[in-house]
Formats: sequence, C-alpha cells, structure tokens
Amino acid sequence: MLSPVVHVIGARPNFIKAAPVVAALAERGCAQRIVHTGQHYDERMSTVFFRELSLPEPDVDLGVGSGSHGRQTGALLAALEEEFVATSPRMVVVYGDVNSTLAAALAASKLGIPIAHVEAGLRSFDMTMPEEINRRLTDQLADLCLVTSPEAIGHLANEGVAVDRAHLVGNPMIDTLLAHLDRFDPAAVRGRYGLPERYVAATLHRPANVDDPATAAELVARLHAVADLVDVVIPVHPRSRPTLTAAGLDDHPGLHVRDPLGYVEFVGLVRGAVAAVTDSGGVQEETTILRVPCLTLRPNTERPITITHGTNRLVTVDELVPAVRKVLEQGPPAADAEAPPLWDGRAGARIADVIIRSLGE
Ligand code: UD1
Ligand code: UDP
Repeated sequence: MLSPVVHVIGARPNFIKAAPVVAALAERGCAQRIVHTGQHYDERMSTVFFRELSLPEPDVDLGVGSGSHGRQTGALLAALEEEFVATSPRMVVVYGDVNSTLAAALAASKLGIPIAHVEAGLRSFDMTMPEEINRRLTDQLADLCLVTSPEAIGHLANEGVAVDRAHLVGNPMIDTLLAHLDRFDPAAVRGRYGLPERYVAATLHRPANVDDPATAAELVARLHAVADLVDVVIPVHPRSRPTLTAAGLDDHPGLHVRDPLGYVEFVGLVRGAVAAVTDSGGVQEETTILRVPCLTLRPNTERPITITHGTNRLVTVDELVPAVRKVLEQGPPAADAEAPPLWDGRAGARIADVIIRSLGE
C-alpha cells in the first residue's frame, strides 16, 4: 500500500482550511492520515470543528498542548519527527501560519519529505507577529506553495521561491464557508443567546492586543463605548480571557460575553451582525464573502485583498468608536461585489489536483 499524504493540523483555523482539502483528496482515492498536534485541545477550540465540518477524526493526537513559543514549537518538532519516521508520509500538508505549521514543515524537510503549504505567501511584513515568522520559514521549506491571493506569488518570488513552486488555487476557508452557507442562521443564534436584532460581533486574540493588561484594558474601554451605541457579542478566545476579564469586559449590560462558539453558530453570528470587530485572519476573509463590514484592530494585514475586494478596514483603537458609528449610519455595503479571484468554493479540488500531479499519479 502507498504511504499516506499526511495532514498536520493543530489549531482552530487549520481545521476549517483542511476540511475541503481532505474531502477532495478522498474523492480522488488518495490514502491520507490526519495528525492533530493538540496545539488546541478544548472541546470548543477543536472537537466541535471535526463534528460540524465532517472532518474525519484524527488518526493520532500528539497532545502537545500549550506553552511558550520555543517550548511548544520544540515539543511539536520532536513529536512530529517521531510520527513521520513511524509512518513515512509521501507528502506532508500544512496549513496557515500557526506553530504547528512551522514545526511540521521543519520536521518533514529534515526527513526529506515533500511539503505542501496551504495559504502560502501571505505577508503582513510585521516580524513582531509570531505568524509572520511561521509563514516566511514554512514557505522557504515548502515544495508546493498553494496560494489563496494573487499578490502572494510576488511575495514568494521576492523571497527567492522558484515560480514553479507557487500555485494560485483559491481559498479553502471560503470553500468551507460556501459549503455550509445554508446552515448559518442568525435568527437561531440570536434566539439561543438572547441577542437583540442589531449587534456587533467581536473577536480578539492577537498577542499584540490581548497579552498586555494595559492594552487589553484600553480595548475593553473602547468596546464598552461601542456597546453604548449598539450591543456587542464577543465569544472570547481562551488566550484573551484573563486580561479581558481582569479589565472588566463583562461590566456592561450591552456587552454579551460568551465562550468560543462552534463554527456554524459563529458564522451565523457574524452573518447577522451589523459589523465585525476583530483581529482574526479568518474573520477578515469570511466577512469579505458575507459582505459584513469588518473593522480590523491591527496596524497591518497579510490579507489586503479583504480591503480591496471586501468589506475590511484597518482601525486603531482610537478610530474604533467613530468607525462603528459610521457603519451604523451607512447601513450594509452593496451585496453584489466581486469576490477575490478563485474564492469560489473549488480551492480544495484545485489543491488536491496540484498535490496528486506533484506525486506523479
Ligand atoms: C494560535 C496561533 C494563531 C492563531 C490562533 C487561532 C500560533 C503562534 N498562534 O494562537 O496564529 O490565530 O491560534 O485561534 O500558533 N488555550 C486554551 N485552550 C485551547 C488552546 C489554547 O485554553 O484549546 C489557551 C492556553 O492558555 C494557551 C493560549 O490559549 O497558552 C494560547 O494558545 P496557543 O495555541 O499557544 O496560541 P493562540 O493564541 O491560540
Ligand atoms: N471561529 C469559531 N468560533 C469562534 C471564533 C472563531 O468557529 O468563537 C472560527 C471563525 O470561522 C474564524 C476561525 O475560527 O474565521 C479562525 O479562528 P481564529 O480567529 O481563532 O484564527 P485566525 O484566523 O486569526 O488565525
């Protein structure tokens, strides 16, 4: 029997991106193995996505868990090396820009195993972000750079990645969104969580926003000011819980603090929102397609196409309240804008075809 194509996934956004790739490879009869690193492990950060997205149960969970960057990446590297030595993958497929992505690429490259990187070439040009380090290094090691956005090809070329390694395939995050569109029901989410008709959906988890207690407190004060204008719902990422709670996030009657939501409820929440306030990569992309105004609390984005083709706008903490006020005055953006190229629900199929071609089948 042929050795498998191994998918390494570990964090919430990985599961959403991997689902359509795994499905498309399965349709093509490809032997696969799913390795969960255990970087995310809570029911609501991991298990729920497998259930909701019909992603096959992992063949193995390495249970690496949380830790500082060095400790976590080192533990991932050691565990993944052992896993790859035992199972001899034909190819390792890695997703996005999390620590599990870089560790898998490093372990595979040292063993001479070909690597496919899904979502290659995105750049914020901000090396203070752990994700930017992970992206750049992973792309140097990848044999197949599978690109979601055209400008990524230029970024890869500038870093010396040979042109024939880069393939514009579209966005598998959007495959998942489009595949489940009928399930995103804002009225059901409002009913379940007792929300009013008009609300803002917020998510925050970038270290630059939530790790420092003073910065987090400033953000909480601005979210309270937004909640003076319109209700705000925030499913809180576990990373952000301590600082946001210490800063009194819950202390406003218009601010609805929730645990992380499952994918179907979360996208239902965003779909029905007057705006999203976020620092998430995935939410910038989802709001682009859902045509929900997105205010991104970051000084940069590795996803500029969500600004040029979508509803995204970068805002500082000082700009947040006026920006929300403006969205409330302007009403919803036009619904008929053109999506970014190849964000059409077929990225998983294109990725599977590139992988299978490169394996010579
Ligand atoms: C990671 C990724 C980030 C991605 C995010 C998606 C890196 C460097 N960062 O950030 O790019 O946007 O996932 O959500 O890989 N925790 C739990 N339960 C869990 C998982 C985490 O309580 O299931 C807590 C732990 O206290 C942990 C902290 O969250 O220390 C941070 O988790 P970690 O995976 O290290 O980074 P994220 O902030 O989740
Ligand atoms: N998400 C979810 N429940 C939540 C918050 C987010 O299902 O409570 C989904 C959402 O679709 C988002 C995705 O998880 O696009 C990515 O997660 P996150 O924002 O944590 O990571 P990033 O995209 O910033 O790496």
